[in-house]
Parts: sequence; C-alpha cells; structure tokens
Amino acid sequence: MIRRHSTVRSSLRRATAEVTFAPIIPLASLDCIAARSLSTGERAEIAALDREDDRRRFVTARALLRQRLASALGLAPTEVPLVRSPERSLGVAAAGAPHFSVTHAGEWVAVAVCDAPIGIDLEPVLPSGPDPLLVARVATASERAAYGTLPPQERPAAFVRLWVRKEAAVKATGCSPDRLDVGIEPACRRVRSPAGALWISDLQVGPGIPMAVAVLAGGRTPPRLEVSRAAFDVGRAGGGGRQ
Ligand SMILES: CC(C)(COP(=O)(O)OP(=O)(O)OC[C@H]1O[C@@H](n2cnc3c(N)ncnc32)[C@H](O)[C@@H]1OP(=O)(O)O)[C@@H](O)C(=O)NCCC(=O)NCCS
Repeated sequence: MIRRHSTVRSSLRRATAEVTFAPIIPLASLDCIAARSLSTGERAEIAALDREDDRRRFVTARALLRQRLASALGLAPTEVPLVRSPERSLGVAAAGAPHFSVTHAGEWVAVAVCDAPIGIDLEPVLPSGPDPLLVARVATASERAAYGTLPPQERPAAFVRLWVRKEAAVKATGCSPDRLDVGIEPACRRVRSPAGALWISDLQVGPGIPMAVAVLAGGRTPPRLEVSRAAFDVGRAGGGGRQ
C-alpha cells in the first residue's frame, strides 16, 4: 500500500532509525485507507474529529505508523496492538516491538522506527518569527545566547529548528525542554540529556519545513538514518488515483 519514492542514507553503525514522511491523504482516500490499515477503535475515533484536516492527518499518521510496525512485527496493519500510555504517548503491546515516534503538522506526517528510544518532530517555519516570550520559555541560556547572535532574517528558521529538535528530544527522553540543550547550529550532533547521550539529526520535509530526529543512544557514531517519502496507493481498491 505504501510506495517508497526515495531513500537517503546518512551516517554509520550503532542504532538504525527508519524515518518515513508523507503528505496527508486526500479526503477521497480516507475511508479506503482507514478500512485497510486502522483498528476498529481508531475508525470510531475519526468520527469524533470535527475538522476535515484533523481527520486526514489522523488517518495518514496512524496508517503510516501501522504499516511500518506491521512490517517489523510480521502482523497485518490492523492487528498491531497500539496502546496509549497515561502521558499520551503511543506504545505497542508486543514483545520485541521497536521504539517509534510520530509527528504531524500542517500537510505532513512522519513516523520514525528505531532499535533505540526515538523522537521525531516537524513544524513549518512562520515568516513572522517567534514571540520573544516563547523563545525565553523554550530555549536554554546558551541557546538564547546563540540565537541572539543571529541576524534577524535567520531567526524564524533557526527557532523552528530549535523547536523541532527540542520536541524530538522530549519525545525520545521524556525530559523537560529546559533540561535539554540541543543547540541551534545546523548539524547532526550528540548532546547530553538527563536520560543519557542523545543524537540529534536535522532533516527537511520540504522547503521551510524542518524536521528533527532524536535517538537516545551512546557511542561516538551517530545512528544510521534511512529516510524515505511515502505515498498511499489506493488505486486498486477503487479509493482514488495514485498521488
Ligand atoms: C507531547 C508533545 C511532544 C507533542 O508534540 P506536538 O508538536 O504537539 O505534536 P506532534 O504531532 O509532533 O506529536 C504528536 C504525537 O506525539 C506523541 N506523544 C504524545 N505525548 C507524548 C509523550 N509524552 N512522549 C512521547 N510522544 C508523545 C503521540 O504519538 C502524538 O501523536 P498521536 O496523538 O497521533 O498519537 C508536545 O505536545 C508537548 O507536550 N511538549 C512538551 C514540551 C514543550 O513544552 N515543548 C515546547 C517546545 S520545546
């Protein structure tokens, strides 16, 4: 059901993280993809979402996640036993299940699957830039100092890069953002966190849409990243054409 368009490999050894991102599905494909990939409970959840975009995002993210986990676990996508933890993250109630993380924003969703704890986040850059109060709330003292040296035109993108790194790091570690110094310079970097060494990689879904992946893994070598863009093929089920 998922076609892979391109694969970019970076770095070597240690943990391996598979990152798949996709544009949200058109409304016409929603029922078909939900029927093929989602659980009965998730299909009931769709009706509770008021906004069309939210329904499209929810179904795309869940279908993508279930497809990725189904391949890892040797199950059908609808059979992957996803469970919601009290702190709102998703888990899999199956022995030997990989770690994973999900993000959705605007027109895009992404899923990361890894043999170590992982977090992923994406967010579009707003040309207006962030409210200074927000910068003060999410950035550490050293991040604020580095941010302050940037020319004004570079700040909107730099802030979103910082934001997605932090959110990815929060998801991977469960730590509070003010205890995660992730930096603002574009790079794959190893940072310290209260949960252990964390590798942070910058990715890009498209122009003006930064994404970051954080992997909780020690060692001197960054995790191997396999990044691909997916699209849902609903042609054979009569749910619409190929994207
Ligand atoms: C939980 C949180 C990280 C989600 O991030 P978001 O940008 O709002 O939303 P995203 O679409 O990127 O991610 C949502 C997914 O994260 C996952 N998630 C939710 N809570 C989580 C948690 N505590 N740990 C790990 N993953 C979590 C869920 O799978 C969710 O998708 P789902 O609801 O469809 O299952 C965020 O809302 C949050 O609470 N952040 C707190 C830290 C903070 O203050 N950040 C500010 C900027 S650094």
